[in-house]
Amino acid sequence: MPDASRPTVLDAGPDAIAVAAARLRAGGLVAVPTETVYGLAARADDDAAVAGIYRAKGRPSFNPLIVHVPDLAAARALAVFDERALRLAERFWPGALTLVLPLRPDAGLAGAVTAGLATVALRCPAHPVMRAVLMDAGLALAAPSANASGAISPTSARHVVASLGGRIDLILDAGECAAGIESTIVALRPEGGWQILRPGPVTGAQIAGVLGEEETRGGSGAIEAPGQLASHYAPGKPVRLDARRAEPGEFLIGFGDIGGDTNLSASGDLAEAAARLYAALHEGDASDRDSIAVAAIPGDGIGAAINDRLRRAAT
Ligand code: TXA
Ligand code: MG
Repeated sequence: MPDASRPTVLDAGPDAIAVAAARLRAGGLVAVPTETVYGLAARADDDAAVAGIYRAKGRPSFNPLIVHVPDLAAARALAVFDERALRLAERFWPGALTLVLPLRPDAGLAGAVTAGLATVALRCPAHPVMRAVLMDAGLALAAPSANASGAISPTSARHVVASLGGRIDLILDAGECAAGIESTIVALRPEGGWQILRPGPVTGAQIAGVLGEEETRGGSGAIEAPGQLASHYAPGKPVRLDARRAEPGEFLIGFGDIGGDTNLSASGDLAEAAARLYAALHEGDASDRDSIAVAAIPGDGIGAAINDRLRRAAT
């Protein structure tokens, strides 16, 4: 039976942030806005709290979580930073970059956070509400996107309610997420070389610029980030890409001068398109149409991340 009293949605002012931080310290789950998407947070050092995330999302336990920290000092208590990692953190933190680094033996994280890997994914977010929660809680917080596993990520509190509803207690509402697409995940290989595990708002060219070397292609080939799984971010209906017009029964997500039922960016701005992508997919999913069609999006800059998500949504 759905529980209509859950979840509580609070405007993310100082009082609500204090309530959320106390809930998190006590081992609870709270959905919190970040600059990329809403995250479902729990304290990262507590097995039961982290288990709650997997349960609420229906997430496979082999899929590790990103750990969020307030600053570089907190990050260095959890992972080994080499000189390259320090340069990336200095340039892009706080912000939409997640670093996969060797886990410190004394990190004290719940085992399920890293799914038993020897590495940990760390991000220092820029959103003032997530930052305030991290600092008030005084804890590292595991936080995957606040949606049921495999479904469309949430860029508003309303999306979180629609996807997780009665499975969580509390959502902090701070309106829509500015970037709208999950953080870029970069793995730095201890033996040298680096690889993008998930494209995002920070582009490969920006990372190569800071590191002074190109991405190492063709690594192990193993799936390290299940965000890389072929089907992910998927609406409950078929998705057709590179559409020029809507076929009968299709909800068309347009771009530029391909109008559509909704348009990602009439002026062809890719940052605006990224910010609107998940809301448009949610809208198509909730519409009375049988399927969704999406106009072609250029692949440069953050367009690479948009096309990555669209390919998985269409699979
Ligand atoms: O923007 C974001 O990153 C959002 C917000 C809430 O911060 N979080 C997010 O988390 O997207 P999630 O759990 O939905 O995605 C985490 C991704 C998964 O694809 C996971 O496999 C990968 O990070 N990951 C986590 N730990 C890893 C590790 N040690 N090695 C490789 N990939 C890892
Ligand atoms: Mg996700």
